[in-house]
Amino acid sequence: MNKQVVLYKKLSPLLMARLHEQTDVTLIDNLNADGLAQLRDALPRAHGLLGASLKLDAQLLDLAPNLQAIASVSVGVDNYDIDYLTERRILLSNTPDVLTETTADTGFALILASARRVVELANMVRAGEWKRNVGPAQFGTDVHGKTLGIIGMGRIGEALAQRGHFGFGMPVIYHSHSPKPAVEQRFNAQYRSLPELLQQADFVCLTLPLTAETEGLIGKQQFALMRPQTIFINISRGKVVDEAALVEALRSGQIRAAGLDVFEREPLNADSPLMQMDNVVATPHIGSATHETREAMATCAVDNLLQALAGERPANLVNSGAWKA
Ligand code: DGY
Repeated sequence: MNKQVVLYKKLSPLLMARLHEQTDVTLIDNLNADGLAQLRDALPRAHGLLGASLKLDAQLLDLAPNLQAIASVSVGVDNYDIDYLTERRILLSNTPDVLTETTADTGFALILASARRVVELANMVRAGEWKRNVGPAQFGTDVHGKTLGIIGMGRIGEALAQRGHFGFGMPVIYHSHSPKPAVEQRFNAQYRSLPELLQQADFVCLTLPLTAETEGLIGKQQFALMRPQTIFINISRGKVVDEAALVEALRSGQIRAAGLDVFEREPLNADSPLMQMDNVVATPHIGSATHETREAMATCAVDNLLQALAGERPANLVNSGAWKA
């Protein structure tokens, strides 16, 4: 009998065909109330799940007694209770590597857009308000040669450092669990404590995962260490930051600007003060959102799922404690 797979994300025809060859597929193509009801109906027969952007808590997963594997189409795994999955020996996999470069591109897009006020000034042109040459009131600030501060020197942090160091001649400082000599050598980067980094970086960029340890890492105290020229960039997860403290830091001029791809609540509430601020560039969680990268992520997730359902260790297993050879 074929294994039963529940997809809660649409895949390309090619990937759908691959899954159909080896499994029976139920597709839930919209996670609205109807879609969630369909998911609940499908969970009791599911051996595998594949999707993203859904908090799969124990309450939902208790509906799935036969579940063997979840393939998340994301690198972040903050939507899953890993201890619970491990206890139930459900293999959780993710899609690292394939999105690293694109996500770093997004980070740099936010750096450039915030520093050079691209969105604000493009909107001015579009509104027909470009009547004379721009003056100091519209000037931005340089990116090249400024100090790039990276918090969380993982794969995406390194890809950001590469762009800053080689592309823009930026001195790179970073903070992570421990110093990384290979990174320091490659990008001439220097390790800093978190307070030192916040005080010294012109661009403070978050590239670290959301965990119990990083939730709320950047709040009032941390913004107070930044300087009026600091530009704050977040391409990790919104909950790493106390958003009210960020709003206050932007409002008071404690920091110059922010480029944000992630928020405490997504989609961002229409009444969020961040929406009203000219010195904020806000994008809708597009870190990895290109045609090529999303297809590569989906391919990686399908590979992971088929491996797991075939009794093999998935290439990108997150909870190795769940694996029993
Ligand atoms: C990821 O892959 O974790 C991206 O942030 C999309 O959720």
